[in-house]
Amino acid sequence: MIQLQSTRGTDIRMFDYEIVKADNMEHLRLVSICFQSSFPDSFASKLGIPYLVRMHEWFLEEPDGFILFIRHEKQCVGFVSGYVGTSSASAMMQFALWAAFRSLALRPWLVFEPEVRKRRHFITRNLKKRFFVTRRVEEREKEQNAYSFSDSVGLVGIGVHREYQGKGLGSIMLRAFDQEVMLKRLSHAHLSVKRENKRAIHAYRKHGWKVLTDKAVGITMVKEYECHEEDP
Ligand SMILES: CC(C)(COP(=O)(O)OP(=O)(O)OC[C@H]1O[C@@H](n2cnc3c(N)ncnc32)[C@H](O)[C@@H]1OP(=O)(O)O)[C@@H](O)C(=O)NCCC(=O)NCCS
Repeated sequence: MIQLQSTRGTDIRMFDYEIVKADNMEHLRLVSICFQSSFPDSFASKLGIPYLVRMHEWFLEEPDGFILFIRHEKQCVGFVSGYVGTSSASAMMQFALWAAFRSLALRPWLVFEPEVRKRRHFITRNLKKRFFVTRRVEEREKEQNAYSFSDSVGLVGIGVHREYQGKGLGSIMLRAFDQEVMLKRLSHAHLSVKRENKRAIHAYRKHGWKVLTDKAVGITMVKEYECHEEDP
């Protein structure tokens, strides 16, 4: 039980919660509902809960993937997902492709969403990869992976249910992520964030993340951890 305090100083109350590592479909359903609340405008959210469940299932199938979430009154009110290595967005898309087609068949108007236009290169590259793995696609991936985060934990997603944002739960999730990196005995973590997401950037900086690259497409941040050989 902690005292949950609004970072904007309005709401203070006792808050009973536990941090859970997702390991079954019901957990994924709870996390997906929270994802929709944290990212209401994202294309993935618009594809619906069955798609989001499938997308999150990827973390359970990957040996190095994980999702931690805050459970409060049988609901997920915040989550963080991670994976060791790069290209998680692409791998997730491959994994959940059929679920995306099924969702699109039920909601065909979504193909006109601006996000589809913005991400058309990413989408076509993945469709090509799925149906005709071309040498060019493979070469480009190899080039991208040459800039390697292969032994670094990627913070793939973090979100707090919108009714609970600004109360310190994001910080709890970031600390839980740190513990998971240290349990894996890895010394680096990385993430990407949109430039305009000032709230998230502020939270990452406060938790020791530093900007590695700052480009129009987004900011890459990294965090270093101290690894002690004698740690159990
Ligand atoms: C980003 C997010 C996970 C942060 O979680 P949160 O629970 O709202 O954050 P916390 O309450 O732990 O606050 C963390 C810091 O952000 C600050 N913050 C909170 N609301 C803010 C706001 N509206 N603008 C700027 N900073 C804000 C807090 O003040 C705190 O810093 P401080 O302790 O120095 O005051 C959450 O807001 C969220 O889910 N956003 C939508 C999804 C998203 O953008 N995810 C990140 C994708 S990369």
